[in-house]
Amino acid sequence: MLQNRGTSIFGPGDGQKLPFGGDYNPEQWPEEIWEEDMRLFHLAGVDCVTLNVFSWAALQPDEETYSFERLDKIMEMIRRNHLQVILATSTAAHPAWMARKYPEVLRVEMNGMKRRFGGRHNSCPNSPVYQKYSVALAGKLAARYGKSENLMAWHINNEYGGECYCENCRQAFLVWLKEKYHTLEELNRVWNTSFWGHTFYDWEEIAAPDLRSEHFERGRTMFQGISLDYRRFFSDSLLANYQAEYRAVKAYTPDIPVTTNLMGFYKPLDYQKWSRYMDFISWDNYPDNETPAAVTAMNHDLMRGLKGGQPFALMEQTPSVTNWLSYNALKRPGVMRLLSYQAAAHGADSILFFQMRRSIGACEKYHGALIDHAGHEHTRVFREMQELGAELKKLGTSFMGGRVPARAAILVDWDNWWALEYSAGPSCDLKYLDEVERYYSAFYEQNIPVDLISVEDALAPYSLVVCPVLYMVKPGYDQVLSRYVEQGGTAVFTFFSGIVDEHDLVTLGGYPGKLRTLLGIWVEESDALPLGMANGFTWRKKHYPAQLLCDIMHLEGAKEEAAYESDFYAHTPVLTMNTLGKGKAWYVGTRSSREFYRDFIHALAAESGVKEIWTPIPGVEVSIRQKDEEAWMFFLNHNPDGVEMTAELAGNSLLEGRRYKAGDRLFLPGKGVMIYQVAKTSMSRQGS
Ligand code: GLA
Ligand code: ZN
Repeated sequence: MLQNRGTSIFGPGDGQKLPFGGDYNPEQWPEEIWEEDMRLFHLAGVDCVTLNVFSWAALQPDEETYSFERLDKIMEMIRRNHLQVILATSTAAHPAWMARKYPEVLRVEMNGMKRRFGGRHNSCPNSPVYQKYSVALAGKLAARYGKSENLMAWHINNEYGGECYCENCRQAFLVWLKEKYHTLEELNRVWNTSFWGHTFYDWEEIAAPDLRSEHFERGRTMFQGISLDYRRFFSDSLLANYQAEYRAVKAYTPDIPVTTNLMGFYKPLDYQKWSRYMDFISWDNYPDNETPAAVTAMNHDLMRGLKGGQPFALMEQTPSVTNWLSYNALKRPGVMRLLSYQAAAHGADSILFFQMRRSIGACEKYHGALIDHAGHEHTRVFREMQELGAELKKLGTSFMGGRVPARAAILVDWDNWWALEYSAGPSCDLKYLDEVERYYSAFYEQNIPVDLISVEDALAPYSLVVCPVLYMVKPGYDQVLSRYVEQGGTAVFTFFSGIVDEHDLVTLGGYPGKLRTLLGIWVEESDALPLGMANGFTWRKKHYPAQLLCDIMHLEGAKEEAAYESDFYAHTPVLTMNTLGKGKAWYVGTRSSREFYRDFIHALAAESGVKEIWTPIPGVEVSIRQKDEEAWMFFLNHNPDGVEMTAELAGNSLLEGRRYKAGDRLFLPGKGVMIYQVAKTSMSRQGS
């Protein structure tokens, strides 16, 4: 294990910089190639590799035999070359012999199709055979390699995900349900089975909710309660696999941190729950060229939020292309660097890639890599990575462990996401992340750091908390929110909130249910506007559209801030504000334009004392990390062209190696990056 972890959960790569490198698959290559790989790694500044991600078949050629000779050799070569290792457990793709001998390890898809051997991420999490052999392999790897001095972290499995509807899963679902509800009476109640005569008299009557039972299209269901519980159950099933391997490696290496690579806003898994069992968060960032920079930033902030703002690992990104998009466009020159620093700006303490060498066969042969099929260092991609490696060395471990000082937060909740999008009505266009992203972008565009938090996180550190479409209010959370507002917080809620409890059962007595007193309103009806149709309203002298959903409401103590302008509900409130104790609770009864969200968040941030860290410049992202008495501001120019700006405070531009005084002119090239080190005390505008 590395000394000098600093404040980061995992150590610096070569002791000098953020871990830099990534997935390396020497097992796919003859040994003659390995030494050349080592030469190229050193040239590029690679100091850390993720090994053994898909090697189960090689490590266990049959049920009784394990064979580690080749991995021993690889580990020895990596050690000799002073590279750190993130060692994967290889359990994300089972061997063919296992599928043949024990078909139970194969998944059943939502349409009832039983898979044969093939692909990856293909094992049923509730197969006892899979459970037994995955844990056994993890344990054997830990026993054999746990003492390696260059072992930096364990990487369990790979991108857990997918689904299964086999009989083993159904049986496990029944166990999960019995533990949760104890009696069939309670189960019938929470699923509201008196609807359509679904009453269950025996647990065995319960089917897994797939296309043969409650689902009628992917993602649509006739019984939301059943489908919601299956999602929770399945996320828990994969989590149990992860936990079992976690225990297996921890038995040998209690001090080596353990992770699995997450995927940002990945709907099937409740990462907020998963994060409790991870020593540190790591994730794979694969935006395409059209992904807005704000969306990538939002994913990073979600990942950072999973462990209370702790730095995370960027486990994978492509050096240039992917292979799995319809159009696998190249990352333009400078963009790989820009996206690497964007990750760091939002809390990443590593810059890792998939992959180090491009394979010759199968579906990832055209996926980007440090070492291309040409096999040498004279490529654009190699040069760009080499330059980044050298730059990271220059930066050292400076901002490693640094935190993002956010005073505003957006609440995100997986159960809410699942339940909202299962809900039949009011609009098929209502998507949780669309609403989250609209608020997020409003903060992002104004250089206001924001945390993405869960219902488990404390609200007290924040002056402003936005809860987009809080459709489901979990038990007691209404009180948490009320206390937050009473004590001086500003909270924002939107349309279609407070509708159901944790079982997706409607809270009776008028919407927004448990949030009604806090918000001081009663929403009587909601009008879903078809695409292209709009109502409108005027707030603080500016006109904005009302789209998607228009809540029609009555004031019950709240103050009307704006009213609809047309239709039969013209002149009724659309935007309200309720004062409660020392704070304020806002309700935005419709979906409006990006301009509205910008103006609205700008006003609320100012009124609640949340400050931007730099005057906004279009297309230039400004983010910040701080540690002890220092702060690092990251200027990320997402524009193709350069921009000129004025230094708002004195600082050291680390990549340029020069100092600026306040008032100096600065130039940031197209797709360029500036890391600006300032003293925390000089940041009068910074709200923390
Ligand atoms: C994922 C996986 C990798 C690889 C890349 C390709 O992130 O974890 O094994 O398949 O995608 O983009
Ligand atoms: Zn299964």
